[in-house]
Amino acid sequence: MKRIAIMTAGGDCAGLNSAIKSIVMTASKQNVEVIGVMDGFIGFIEGKYIPLNENIVRSIETKGGTMLGSSNKECPFHYYNKKTGEFEDRVDEGIKKLKKQGVEGFIIIGGDGTLDSARVISEHGFPTVGIPKTIDNDMEASEPTIGFQTAIDAAVDAIRKLITTAYSHRRVMVVELMGRTSGYLTLYAGFASGADIILLPEQDYSLKVVCDRVKKIMESGKRYVIIAISEAAKEKGGEETIAQLVKDSFEQKRYGGVSQKLANEIEQLTGYETRATILGHIQRGGEPTTSDIILGARLGSAACQMLLHGEVGKIVGIIGGKVLKMPFPKERIPRILDITTNDLCITARDMGVCFGQENE
Ligand code: F6P
Repeated sequence: MKRIAIMTAGGDCAGLNSAIKSIVMTASKQNVEVIGVMDGFIGFIEGKYIPLNENIVRSIETKGGTMLGSSNKECPFHYYNKKTGEFEDRVDEGIKKLKKQGVEGFIIIGGDGTLDSARVISEHGFPTVGIPKTIDNDMEASEPTIGFQTAIDAAVDAIRKLITTAYSHRRVMVVELMGRTSGYLTLYAGFASGADIILLPEQDYSLKVVCDRVKKIMESGKRYVIIAISEAAKEKGGEETIAQLVKDSFEQKRYGGVSQKLANEIEQLTGYETRATILGHIQRGGEPTTSDIILGARLGSAACQMLLHGEVGKIVGIIGGKVLKMPFPKERIPRILDITTNDLCITARDMGVCFGQENE
């Protein structure tokens, strides 16, 4: 191959620039040119590219986000046409534009939705390799995914700040974390910041259990309670809290607001003053941790080597600390957090953390 392309798509996260740098450096060493596709699948369909070389990527690995831009609504085989309001398959068009630039291979960095589109591009015969990234950490292909560890640190840092003000005011703080329907980020950040109660989307909680625990903690003399709740967590028999339905997006649900709902209920049922904080995009921003820089570099370089050696139609991830390759899955299957067997859940339960379940 003489020329390849890189694209980042889906929600951004820290560590993407490290992967981009690693691909460019690895390709340059083999005299292969690299171009970047801008703004995810928007740039793929519209043919928006930038040249990349060693000088351009030299110190990007320490920066957060993605220098190529990203978009998380677009899907190339289900692409929203603003004029007609219809969804269209535009995969062939995107591939044709890349070929016109002399591009012979494609590395796509994204979450499960993006890598499902990468599979489709690969099935159209265009040599493609995928790299998993997401702060949600819910992909079978890699444990952890790029961005997860930085997001944990960002959330822990924010929750520690909430603890000082909660202590001063004798308050209950309900902190809402991202992750869509996956609870990994809430579990890891909640645990690491010493949350008393962790509520995950994988297991509906009992409001009575949560309120009883709040009362017990406050009556024990502790001045505050920290509750970490996933944005898609819900009460037993209740509904998810949806902030917005995005009509032109492949994933239409945008979660948000469950923390305020729970805070109101706790204050009403326990009498303790309660506040809600949505951590939001703070969790995706900022500079990557060293572990995400290293992870991005390992996966970027491995993906580039695979592509240049014709090992395509695959995802490269980290499993058990080792770089591993697997074919694109035929369908989107998220890695489910099993709260009964997950090691950290067991540790947290052993240490008395409440997950909102009876008989804990
Ligand atoms: O999938 C990554 C993620 O950050 C989720 O955790 C979150 O629900 C969503 O993206 C937010 O999307 P947006 O950036 O469109 O608000």
